[in-house]
Amino acid sequence: MCGIVGAVAKSDVLPLLLDGLKRLEYRGYDSAGIAVINDRNQISRTRSAGKIAELEKALSCSGAMPGTTGIAHTRWATHGPPTEINAHPHMSGQNLALVCNGIIENHEMLRQAQRRNGIEFASETDTEVIVNEIQQHIDRGLDLLAAVMETVAVLEGAYAIGVVSTNEPNRLVGARRGSPLVVGIGEGESYIASDMSALISVTRDFFILENGDIVDIHDGNIAIVDQSGRPQFRDRKTSRLTAEAIALGEHRHYMAKEIHEQGAAIANTLDNRITGTRLLEECFGAGAAAIFDETRSIQIIACGTSYYAGLVARHWFEEFGVPCQVEIASEFHSRHHAVPDGCLTVTLSQSGETIDTLSALALTRELGYMNSLTICNVPESSLVRESDLVLMTHAGPEIGVASTKAFTTQLTALRLLVIALGRRFGMTETDEARLIKELRELPAKVEAALTLEPAIMEIAGQFSDKHHALFLGRGAHYPIALEGALKLKEISYIHAEAYPAGELKHGPLALVDNEMPVISVAPNDRLLNKLKGNIEEVRARGGKLIVFADPHARIYDQENLQVIHVAPVDSSIAPIIFAIPLQMLAYHVGLIKGTDIDKPRNLAKSVTVE
Ligand code: F6R
Repeated sequence: MCGIVGAVAKSDVLPLLLDGLKRLEYRGYDSAGIAVINDRNQISRTRSAGKIAELEKALSCSGAMPGTTGIAHTRWATHGPPTEINAHPHMSGQNLALVCNGIIENHEMLRQAQRRNGIEFASETDTEVIVNEIQQHIDRGLDLLAAVMETVAVLEGAYAIGVVSTNEPNRLVGARRGSPLVVGIGEGESYIASDMSALISVTRDFFILENGDIVDIHDGNIAIVDQSGRPQFRDRKTSRLTAEAIALGEHRHYMAKEIHEQGAAIANTLDNRITGTRLLEECFGAGAAAIFDETRSIQIIACGTSYYAGLVARHWFEEFGVPCQVEIASEFHSRHHAVPDGCLTVTLSQSGETIDTLSALALTRELGYMNSLTICNVPESSLVRESDLVLMTHAGPEIGVASTKAFTTQLTALRLLVIALGRRFGMTETDEARLIKELRELPAKVEAALTLEPAIMEIAGQFSDKHHALFLGRGAHYPIALEGALKLKEISYIHAEAYPAGELKHGPLALVDNEMPVISVAPNDRLLNKLKGNIEEVRARGGKLIVFADPHARIYDQENLQVIHVAPVDSSIAPIIFAIPLQMLAYHVGLIKGTDIDKPRNLAKSVTVE
C-alpha cells in the first residue's frame, strides 16, 4: 500500500508532489510527508500524521519549500503507528531521504547489523533500514545509483522506493520489486510514482518498471537498469486516463459518483464484445480460443469484493457444466494442491496490483496450472502484464476505497466468460442469445435500480444508531449479501455479517432481536420459497427486516418487514442488480454517520502488502 511520487523538475517541485500525493491518497492516508532538495542544497522535510490535508497545513506553517528535486509519500501503516516520526520520507543524517511502498521482510536482521555499526534509529518503521543501508554504501564512496544497487541486493520483501541525496541534487533513483512503480516522461523533467494517475497533470507518457528494475533519473536522462547495472529496455506507454475521468464532478464522494456510473461502465465493458446474439470471443485476446478449447475447469482467485464476484460466478459457470473453484488469494498458499488437468486460473482484481492475488497467480504457475486469465480494471497493472489472457473491465478509474463499479463490471465480464466456456460445455446458440439479450438490458436495469435511492435514504436513517446488522441471501445472492455486509462495515463501521439464509437457524438466529436489523435480497428465483420461510423465522423472533425484493416475489410490507421493490430482472443477472441497492444503503448510512466515505479508516484502495 502507500503511494510514492518523486520528480526532478525544471521549477519548484512542491506543487507537483502535493498534486501527486492527493491523487495517490487512495493508497493509504494515515500520514504523509515530502522532502525537497532546496536551493541551499539541503533537504527540507515536512511530515505529519493524518491525511494530506494535515500535511498541507504543516507546509503552510513551515513556509516555502523551494527546490526542483523531491520525493513524497502517503502512508498506510504496517510497521509502527501512524505518527509523524514514522511518516516518510525517512532520512539518514541530513543528506539522504527515501520513500518506500512495501514491506522489508528482513528488516530485523538489517536493523541489528546496522545497530552493531553504531547507527541509531529515529522511527519504528521497516523502511529506515533501507535509507541506512544506502548511506553506508555512500560512505564507502559509491554514488547514489551504485548504493541503491548494492542495497536492493540485500532486501527481502516487496517494495518500490524513491531516493534523493544532496551529494547529487539533480538525481532521483527509484527501484521496484513487487510493489508498482512507473516513470513519467515530461518535457525536460522526469518523475516516478506508484501509478500513472499521480502524474496525469504533468505527463501522459510513461515507462512501466518491471520487477527488479532500477531507474536512474539524472540531469534530464532516464536510464533503467537491473540490479547488476545491465540496461533494461521498457516500451514507452501513453496513458489514456483523462483528468475528467478522475474528477469528482457534481458528486459529494467518489463512491456516489462510481455507484451512479455503473450503467455506463457496464455498457463500456460490453462494448465491441457482443454482436447480434453472439459473443465476440476475440475480446479475450489472441490464443484465447485454443486455451478455452483445452479448459476442463476453472480456478478463480481474488480478494475482498472481487472474491465475492468470483463466488457469484461459480453459480453461473456450474449452471452450464463448467467445474469452478473459487478461493481467497491469501488462502491459496495455505494448502496443498492437487492440480486438475486443463484448469484455467482466473484472477479478478480492480487494481491488478493486489499482492495476494499476484502471488497466488505466481504459485499457480509453479504448480503447473494450465493458463491464466485476468479480469481487471487497470490496463498497465502487474496482473494484466503477468496473465496469458486479459479481459479488461472498462469501468474507468475507481477511486473510492469501497469497490462498487469494479464489482458490477467484473460480474458483467464474468458473464462473457461464462458464454465463452459454456460454448465448450454444450451451451446452445439459443442459450447464448438469451444471455446476450440479458446483458444488453443490463445498463437500463442498473439505471432503474439507481432510482431506488430516495427510498434507501429513508431506510438508512434506521441504521445510524445500530451496532450490528445481518445480511441474508441464498444461492448466487449469498455472495451479494456478503458484499452488502462488507460495504456497510467499510463505510459505516457498523459490524455486519452475511449468512446464507438457510444457515441462520444453525446458530446466528440467537443474535436476532429488535435491535438487529436484518437485510435480505429476494430475487424471483427457484430459491424464493425457502427464502420466504427464512424471512418468517426472523420475523417470528421479533427481528426487523428490510427486504430488497423483485415485485414478482410477492413480498409486501408487514409488521417488522419493510420491502423495497427492485424492478423485475431475470434471475441469472439479478446478482448484478441487487448489489446496487446494498451499495447505496452503505453509502447513505455512512453519510448519516459522517464517516470518511471515500477513505474509510485503516483501509487503502490498492493492497500491495501480504
Ligand atoms: C472492498 C474492496 C476490497 C477489494 C480487495 C481486492 O470494497 O474494495 O475488498 O475488493 O482489496 O482488490 P482488487 O480488486 O484491486 O484486487
